[in-house]
Amino acid sequence: MEKIMIEGGHLLEGKVRINGAKNSAVALIPAAILADSTVTLDGLPNISDVDTLQSILEDIGAKVVQDSKQKIHIDPSSVVSIPLPNGKVQKLRASYYLMGAMLGKFKRAAIGLPGGCYLGPRPIDQHIKGFEALGAKVKNEKGALYLEAEELRGARIYLDVVSVGATINIMLAAVLAKGKTTIENAAKEPEIIDVATLLTNMGAKIKGVGTDIIRIEGVDRLHGCKHTIIPDRIEAGTYIIAAAAQGKEVVIDNVIPEHLESLLAKLREMGVAIEQHNDQLLIKPGEKLKSVDIKTLVYPGFPTDLQQPFTSLLTKSKGTSIVTDTIYTARFKHIDELRRMNAKVKVEGSAAIVTGTEKLEGAKVKVTDLRAGAALVIAGLMADGITEITEIDHIDRGYEDITENLRRLGAKIWREKVMESNETISMKGL
Ligand code: EPU
Repeated sequence: MEKIMIEGGHLLEGKVRINGAKNSAVALIPAAILADSTVTLDGLPNISDVDTLQSILEDIGAKVVQDSKQKIHIDPSSVVSIPLPNGKVQKLRASYYLMGAMLGKFKRAAIGLPGGCYLGPRPIDQHIKGFEALGAKVKNEKGALYLEAEELRGARIYLDVVSVGATINIMLAAVLAKGKTTIENAAKEPEIIDVATLLTNMGAKIKGVGTDIIRIEGVDRLHGCKHTIIPDRIEAGTYIIAAAAQGKEVVIDNVIPEHLESLLAKLREMGVAIEQHNDQLLIKPGEKLKSVDIKTLVYPGFPTDLQQPFTSLLTKSKGTSIVTDTIYTARFKHIDELRRMNAKVKVEGSAAIVTGTEKLEGAKVKVTDLRAGAALVIAGLMADGITEITEIDHIDRGYEDITENLRRLGAKIWREKVMESNETISMKGL
C-alpha cells in the first residue's frame, strides 16, 4: 500500500501527454469478445481497471497478448460463457459491459453486480430494460445477474435516463441480434462513439451514434480488426484544471479540444487563457481567478467526472461559486477532505457552495473515489505545506503515472509505502 505526498506551492510548467480514454478502454475490451478473430487495441491506458478487465477476459478463455505498454491483441475464439459471480468483476463498474457482450455472443451470462466508485445510488435498471426488450430473461439473485435468451431480437428501446453504460451495453447485446434495434434517448459521450467505431470496424451496422437515436441492424458475425482508442478527456481535463490551479504555462498534448468545450468555456470565464493548436492546448492561468457556477449535465454539458477536481480549483477563486451535480447528486465525498485543508465549502442538497480562500493548507486526507482522488491531488499542489493522501488505489484505477507526470511538470510529489504499523519509508528523491 502506498500514499501520495505533496509539498504544495510549486508552479507547473512543461508538457504532459494524455493517454487513451479509460471509459472507452473498459468497454472496448469486453466488446472484443463479440468478434470471432483477433481484435487489436492500441493506445490503452496503463491503469488497474484495464489490467482487471484483461485478466477477466483471460479467465473466460480469451488469449491476450501484450504487444507493447499500450497495445494488446485479444483472440476471443476460445471464449466461453462461464459464470463470473464475484471477485474481479466487483473491482470495477465497467465489468457490467461483460453482460451485454456475453449475452450478445452466447445468449447467456451470469455476472456479479458491478463495483466501482460509490457516488450514491448507481442502478442498472436501464441496462436490464434493454436486455429484456431484446428478449432476455433477467434474474437478479444473490448479488449476481443471470441473463438468458433463446434468441435476441431487435427492439425499440427508450431509455428513461440518459445513461452511458446502458447505451453501450445495449449496443453490445444488439449488434448480433436478429433484426433492427433502436435506442432512443441514447447518451452521446465520445466514448460511445469510440465503442461504436470499433464495433463497426468489426462488421456491425450502427447509425446515429453521437445523436440521441442510435439504429442498429443485427449481423450474423463480427470479425477482428485494429482500433486506436481516443484520448481521455477526463484525464486531460484533470491536468488542465491542475494547470489552471497551479500552472505557469502547461501544454496538454494529445487531446481532442472539442471534447472539452464545456470545461474550457468555464475556465475562460474564470480568466484562464487557453490557446489551441491542433491536438494541443496551452493553459496560462490568470493572476486572479473569478468564481463561476457549474452544473454537471450529460455530454456535451459539463462532465460530472470533472466536478470534483474543478471544486478544488474554485477554492482559489475570488467570490462564491455553486457546483451542482445533476448526474450523481451525492458525488461530494471529497468535500469533507477539502475542508480538512481549510477549504470553505459546504454541501446543500445536490450542490456544493464554495467560497474562495486565500490559501489551502496541507493536511492528511483520504481518497474515497477516483475523481475525489484527483481533486485532492490538485488541492495538494495548491496548498501550503505537506499534503498526505491515502487510499490511492482509487487513483491508480484511472490515472496512469499521475505522480510522475506532475513531477515532470515541476510539482514536488512522491509516493511512500504505508507500513502496517503506520510507519513509512520515504521514496522522495528516488
Ligand atoms: N442511471 C440509472 N439507471 C441506469 C443507469 C444509470 O438511473 O440503468 C443513472 C445513474 O444513477 C446516473 C445517471 O443515470 O445518475 C448516469 O449514469 P450512467 O449510466 O451514464 O453512468 P455509468 O455508465 O455508470 C459512466 C462512467 C462514469 C461517469 C458516468 C457519467 C464508465 C465506466 N463510467 O458511468 O465515470 O461518471 O458515465 O458520465 O464509463 C469515472 O470515470 O470516474 C466515472 C465514474
